[in-house]
Amino acid sequence: DNVRVFAPATVANMICGFDILGFAVDKPGDEVKMYRVDEPGVRIRSIEGDDGRLPLDADKNTVSACVKLLLVDLGIDKEIGVEIDLIKHMPIGSGLGSSSASTVAGLFAINALLGNPLTKEELMPYCVEGERLACGHGHADNVAPALMGGITLIRGYDPLDVIKLPVPEDLYAGIVFPQVDVPTRDARQLIKEKVLLKDAVVQWGNIAGLISGLYQSDYALISRSMHDVLIEPTRAILIPEFYEMKRIALEEGALSFGISGSGPSVVAITKGQAIAERITEKIQQHLTKNEIDSFKYVSSVNV
Ligand code: HSE
Repeated sequence: DNVRVFAPATVANMICGFDILGFAVDKPGDEVKMYRVDEPGVRIRSIEGDDGRLPLDADKNTVSACVKLLLVDLGIDKEIGVEIDLIKHMPIGSGLGSSSASTVAGLFAINALLGNPLTKEELMPYCVEGERLACGHGHADNVAPALMGGITLIRGYDPLDVIKLPVPEDLYAGIVFPQVDVPTRDARQLIKEKVLLKDAVVQWGNIAGLISGLYQSDYALISRSMHDVLIEPTRAILIPEFYEMKRIALEEGALSFGISGSGPSVVAITKGQAIAERITEKIQQHLTKNEIDSFKYVSSVNV
């Protein structure tokens, strides 16, 4: 009795929708192997790819802690025993939903091992709890797309109301991860609590425009809507070469460019794969010239 589950990286915020929009990409992602064992309890057997940064202690590790929570709620934590191998294929603190991918994979795995007693919607609150454990705040804009695929809207948090949005066929994401560490916890502390009404008006106009653009596959509308006046100006300072990367992306024909989640990864949204490939290549060259190591990924948004 064992399962192996992959959960994808995600681009939270989708540039203008702080904490309410996000999409999944086809790579990278994390893997969880889960085994049924006789001895009750949840244990971590091994973690690969984290450079020793994640706790093996099952109460401290977010994956096992969330699995445990679910077993407790189902009233079977004293009977069921599972062991977990966590294989991380993506960097921690990258702004690609690394903690979220692991948590979602773990919860999906335990649900599958138990014969799927919960629907995806019912799994969602446990995933959100995982985010709270990982960074101190339970945002759902990484876990929702990691679990559901495609683009998701978190219409509300109380109660959680997740809506899947249509994805235009040619929408691609070119992602570059400049190798500096920006913990989500820190990137959230930086943001101002209050916003100006005039900025809020710009932002919600853009969000509504983006949603309309997705429903109509209107790339021009998507492009003019994907701007963030609330968060990017503050967080951009944590990301080396941000404005130069943005200039390159827009010059090469990106529909939009911005921060992926809480950064430091950045994302160019494009129509078609070729432009995303070209942009990530040029940005990487620019970073190399400035002695900054980076990874790049290109993915369809239609996953
Ligand atoms: N919406 C969250 C934030 C995503 O921007 O802090 C973190 O990955």
